[in-house]
Amino acid sequence: MKPIDPRELRTAFGRFMTGVTVVTARDKSGKPVGFTANSFTSVSLDPPLLLVCPGKFLSSYEAFTSCDRFCVSVLEESQTDVANTFAGFKGDRFAKTDHLLDAHGIPAPRGAIARFSCQTHNAIPAGDHVILIGEVTAFEQTAGAGLGYSEGQFFSLTRERNARDPSAKMNVVGALVRHQGNVLLEKTADGYQLPECAVPERTALRKSLTATLRQQGVTASFGPVYSVFDDPGEDTHFAYLLAEATSVAADTKLTSVAPKDFPGLKFTSPPLASLLSRYAQECRTGNLNCYLGDTVSGEIHALTEGI
Ligand SMILES: Cc1cc2nc3c(=O)[nH]c(=O)nc-3n(C[C@H](O)[C@H](O)[C@H](O)COP(=O)(O)O)c2cc1C
Repeated sequence: MKPIDPRELRTAFGRFMTGVTVVTARDKSGKPVGFTANSFTSVSLDPPLLLVCPGKFLSSYEAFTSCDRFCVSVLEESQTDVANTFAGFKGDRFAKTDHLLDAHGIPAPRGAIARFSCQTHNAIPAGDHVILIGEVTAFEQTAGAGLGYSEGQFFSLTRERNARDPSAKMNVVGALVRHQGNVLLEKTADGYQLPECAVPERTALRKSLTATLRQQGVTASFGPVYSVFDDPGEDTHFAYLLAEATSVAADTKLTSVAPKDFPGLKFTSPPLASLLSRYAQECRTGNLNCYLGDTVSGEIHALTEGI
């Protein structure tokens, strides 16, 4: 028999397509630790068990073999930056990543499509890794596509599907969430935007948006559609709903801005800037309308009930 070549074996193992998770815990001093892992496997429903395999090469190996609790977050398809941070960044990974604390104070990246809080059930040494088995004590999930990993590369099913089908359009649904007369805006590197999410189909828009807002610490009740337009350049449909915040967490990353202050802000796109400038103007007259069109031109209609 030919001796096993570890490099070839690694390539052969890598042919198994997986999702991507980030596994997090605290070390003995309480410092948060975390690494990207695709060795995640669901194990048992009764009792609820899962496993991941931390390698001995990890700087956080000791922390994971001795922790009482850990958390596994299944990354959403747009979270390659989070996957790269927890696979390679040598500084404070949590300072670079928007994260929350679970009920036991274990930090976990926000925006995951599923999150499992675990109590350590067993840690079984296995070669150059340990099989860390966790009993799930709480979990959360949200609709959305997971980030994939195959042959050393990340992939996104939505991007693959759109690349194959040139007529396929992306749908983005967002919310103009009103809170005490202000609007909740998300600050990004490219400017401010409304909280929004990409959805592969034009179904379950409210459900996806509810989950997105929940990840930002906001619950809201949705009202009518405020703006629907296409961006032919990007083959994307946009739909924005009016919403009223029913609760806003103290640690929300969203910024509450008065419509009169919109002119001083940079927004992520011209259509969004014009949507918010129309909103600021309509707030003054108290007469809200709905826009239907594309990014260049469209029509204003009296408000109708939502999608
Ligand atoms: C997609 C992907 C999956 C990974 N899966 C695992 C895994 O299951 N177990 C593991 O120990 N390391 C895995 N790694 C490597 C670790 O994420 C990486 O070695 C670690 O973050 C290094 O952390 P350190 O600098 O704290 O040692 C994976 C990396 C990537 C990109």
